[in-house]
Amino acid sequence: MHDPLSEGGTARPITMHGTPVLHTRCAEVTAFDDELVTLVRDMYASMYAANGVGLAANQVGVGLRVFIVDCPDADEERVVAHVVNPELELPEVRTLDDDAEGCLSVPGPSSDVARPDHALVRGVDVYGEPVVIEGTGLLARCLQHETDHLNGMVYVDRISNKERKRVLAEAFPST
Ligand code: NI
Repeated sequence: MHDPLSEGGTARPITMHGTPVLHTRCAEVTAFDDELVTLVRDMYASMYAANGVGLAANQVGVGLRVFIVDCPDADEERVVAHVVNPELELPEVRTLDDDAEGCLSVPGPSSDVARPDHALVRGVDVYGEPVVIEGTGLLARCLQHETDHLNGMVYVDRISNKERKRVLAEAFPST
């Protein structure tokens, strides 16, 4: 899956853990305009500049329900896509995959997080057309991680207090 919006953007600074926009539920997108197209293009540029596999709009300081992925699924098929106003669906019978997870907003460390190994996201694209992204493997993890961001949650909110302290101290040594 290729996304034409994955080229031509300008990288914006990545918002760091602790910034309020990362810890607040993002708003539904209601304006499907040029500004939204530019946001998605810039999100790709920002993600690639930081060597990420996914990025939520609040990670560039914009509190809107938009995320992008450029991530392989369990079959090593690379999925490059954006989704606006996504709704996450998880299987009723869940097989958990406990694996390392990291985040551009908590740069450096990673920590194991158990998540369902299959996920589906339904939303729309920047033109308001329906989008469905089904994910296994790393992509399943990524779809859940990015949906969490839009709900004001960072992956370190899903790990133990002790582990969170370790991760944050490693990412932000001066604080
Ligand atoms: Ni993240």
